Amino acid sequence: MKNTTETIQELKEEKDIVVLAHYYVDGEVQRIADYVGDSYYLSKVATQVPQKNILFCGVRFMGESAKILNPEKRVMMANALADCPMAHMASIEKIKAVRKAYEDLAVVCYINSTAAVKAHADVCVTSANAVKIVRKLPQRNIYFIPDQNLGRYVAAFVPEKNFILDDGFCHVHADLRADTIEQAKAANPSAQVLAHPECTAEVLALADYVGSTSGIIEFAGMSEAESFIVCTEEGVRHELEKNNPGKTFAFGDEVPICSGMKSITIEGVASAMLNLANEIQVDTAVSGKSNLALNRMLELAK
Ligand code: 13P
Ligand code: SF4
Repeated sequence: MKNTTETIQELKEEKDIVVLAHYYVDGEVQRIADYVGDSYYLSKVATQVPQKNILFCGVRFMGESAKILNPEKRVMMANALADCPMAHMASIEKIKAVRKAYEDLAVVCYINSTAAVKAHADVCVTSANAVKIVRKLPQRNIYFIPDQNLGRYVAAFVPEKNFILDDGFCHVHADLRADTIEQAKAANPSAQVLAHPECTAEVLALADYVGSTSGIIEFAGMSEAESFIVCTEEGVRHELEKNNPGKTFAFGDEVPICSGMKSITIEGVASAMLNLANEIQVDTAVSGKSNLALNRMLELAK
């Protein structure tokens, strides 16, 4: 009898499916994926793969972005219910009000947002490309939605622009506390602190490196340090330990877990593939407008 991994490999061929996975999903799921990466990398890969069907192991906004960028493909979710609470935090009414209040304004939307919100933005960004993209925008006023922590982090690198910050946040990252990281650092002074920019300013102030999930993985690989305190979702441990057998990675007392990402299992992947289930549908008008914001991201990030 075939095991689940063998079934998945067969279904990829049989049904012309490529599997994309984010670094936050379980290691077991990352192992069966064809491509694993951060949200910027995965959105780019989704536009380059030849397969007719994409199975996304991540939260809904990621699959939705892949569908918007590839309306002709079937994009399926490994778990239809895997969602990111921050994706629902920006308000379209607030965007309209800020647009009225400022003439020279760009609405910059973190990719962790629903398709409906992206349809009201001028450009999307991820943590890997936000600074580069915002610097290139002609507008002086930037309404950064929805993540206040990423917005504040980006604003510090672009002092020539006026930022209006929204009030969204990721509870997984915002719950990480500076005092516990200070304690971990005191217990291991040679450890380097690596943080995702969704963390609070207090946590980022303690970091030796701040960046996207790929950035954190790349930095840890190049660093000469032997131990690290990692301030992001613990799914990155899989790639960090695989790439760096001699190094150690700590995630603090309360290990940060994203329940949406962790709701994905290889059994769910196999079942979605077998039935071509959990297909993402995006309203045509919404898809057309959000496609502009996502494509502008891919263009400006080059
Ligand atoms: P990355 O873009 O760094 O992969 O992050 C996505 C995310 O959801 C962080 O919480
Ligand atoms: Fe959303 Fe936070 Fe999970 Fe990232 S870690 S997908 S921002 S809830």
